[in-house]
Amino acid sequence: MQTQWWHDAVIYQIYPRSFADSNGDGIGDLAGITARLDDLVELGIDALWVSPFFRSPQRDAGYDVADYCDVDPIFGTLADADALIEGAHDRGIRVIVDLVPNHSSSDHPWFQEALIAAPGSAARARYIFRDGRGEDGALPPNNWQSIFGGPMWTRVIEADGQPGQWYLHIFDSSQPDFDWTNPEVRSLFLDVLRFWLDRGVDGFRVDVAHGLIKEPGLPDVIEPDTISLGAGTATLEPEISAPSSVPYWGQDEVHEIYREWRELLDGYPGNRILVAEAWVDPLSRLADWVRPDEMHQAFNFAYLETPWAARPLAEIIDSSLATFTSVGAPSTWVLSNHDVVRHATRLALSFDNPQGHGIGPATPNLPDQSAALRRARAATALMLALPGSAYLYQGEELGLPEAIHLPDHARQDPTWFRTNGERYGRDGCRVPLPWSMGSRTYGFSPGDNSWLPQPDHWGTFARDEQRNDTDSTLTLYRRLLSLRKELQLGTGRLQWLDYPRDDVLVFRNGRAVVVVNTGREPIRLPESEVLVASSAFEDWMLRGDSTVWLRA
Ligand code: GLC
Ligand code: CA
Repeated sequence: MQTQWWHDAVIYQIYPRSFADSNGDGIGDLAGITARLDDLVELGIDALWVSPFFRSPQRDAGYDVADYCDVDPIFGTLADADALIEGAHDRGIRVIVDLVPNHSSSDHPWFQEALIAAPGSAARARYIFRDGRGEDGALPPNNWQSIFGGPMWTRVIEADGQPGQWYLHIFDSSQPDFDWTNPEVRSLFLDVLRFWLDRGVDGFRVDVAHGLIKEPGLPDVIEPDTISLGAGTATLEPEISAPSSVPYWGQDEVHEIYREWRELLDGYPGNRILVAEAWVDPLSRLADWVRPDEMHQAFNFAYLETPWAARPLAEIIDSSLATFTSVGAPSTWVLSNHDVVRHATRLALSFDNPQGHGIGPATPNLPDQSAALRRARAATALMLALPGSAYLYQGEELGLPEAIHLPDHARQDPTWFRTNGERYGRDGCRVPLPWSMGSRTYGFSPGDNSWLPQPDHWGTFARDEQRNDTDSTLTLYRRLLSLRKELQLGTGRLQWLDYPRDDVLVFRNGRAVVVVNTGREPIRLPESEVLVASSAFEDWMLRGDSTVWLRA
């Protein structure tokens, strides 16, 4: 099989609100990204995935789209999007945009039309409107619970001024789900794909790709509180990765949709790709999303959810490589994104969390930050040595921790509101990036504010400070990425080597031997050429929570 760019690409996720603000309004924007492209070249990534910047009332930070073919004024204009795509391409960086097909914003003209249309009308049939249960239809049509908390249904007021039908929303009430059995919905999205492909994007990250089709009849979820959550540590949205028995996740008919999209993409030159955000267990089912005539990649959330321990890591690495290879797809690897606790905090959470997964006011004993960062650096050095394609989330190259203690009044995530403050939600991984010391917003904005407040210690993570510091996390990432490319580890082959300790992993990938110490006790290394190490070591002793690449 000929190697394609996406088989081994390192793809950097930009969360535009929080990357860089160009005009001083405190919200990151497209021109801010374009102005910082050289920093990303210096980092050494191959492609960008940019979270949604389309027209949206921003009730879920842009994952609530009111117009899929226009840029929201807070992020700029279509001309700014063109400039970003062109600027990236000029530097050899590909651009993937975020497509949100499961739901629109309630501000989308189709939903506004549906609200004033009658029950049973064609306008309502583009979404999922149903009559309620109980007397006068006063109870929701079924027992489904929104991922952000509360019921998955909201009741509308009909033209006669009376409460009427209910509409379905897996997420916030401002995010009504489309009815994907409706051909009009399918054709809308084919047009959206063409629109962005014609503008030159290299692919799409497909939001909630496992949710588009619901089981016919919308049956109740059976015993919702006994749903297994998989082997997670601390993702924020446990319900999102429920098994197939849940009637709104992973229905077989979703695959037809992606086969149609794949055909469309294959008609374009330049190897455009689709990547699935599909939280499905087990990996063998996830492989269905990346069969040869479907998507190209799927996020490996099973890897993200694996605790920092050698045996579970070896198992997930083996099963990922075997499972994706069985359908001819590359494995992907990811440790952080805009929905989960940053891995510089998450991998060190070791308590029984009363929040279930994630962080909230009831979370005790947060990890010691410098120890947690050492572990995160070791985890990244492991991930970037693996064959396949890797995803990085903006700010992890600076070693940013989760910003846990934001003032309550500053919080924005709908999860916080829909759970009445029980779960913090995802604001803590979305705090704007520090670029330099010394300014009010650490170089994020020419103005004085950022849309989420930056913690006082944020300046210590500033990119400018780290650039010339040989021990910084930024320097580590740059070294890992350049070696990964030079040694072609992304297209390499992993071969385990024996080591007589249960908390240590050793493997060979081409010309590199990688040693990962997930335990506490140091280990003695063979004296050989060190390519890169995640933490300093002396006398050939590798500390706990450290990874080293040696020349094979
Ligand atoms: C995905 C996004 C998340 C968003 C949700 C609803 O999971 O990654 O940020 O809230 O979909 O669109
Ligand atoms: Ca701005």
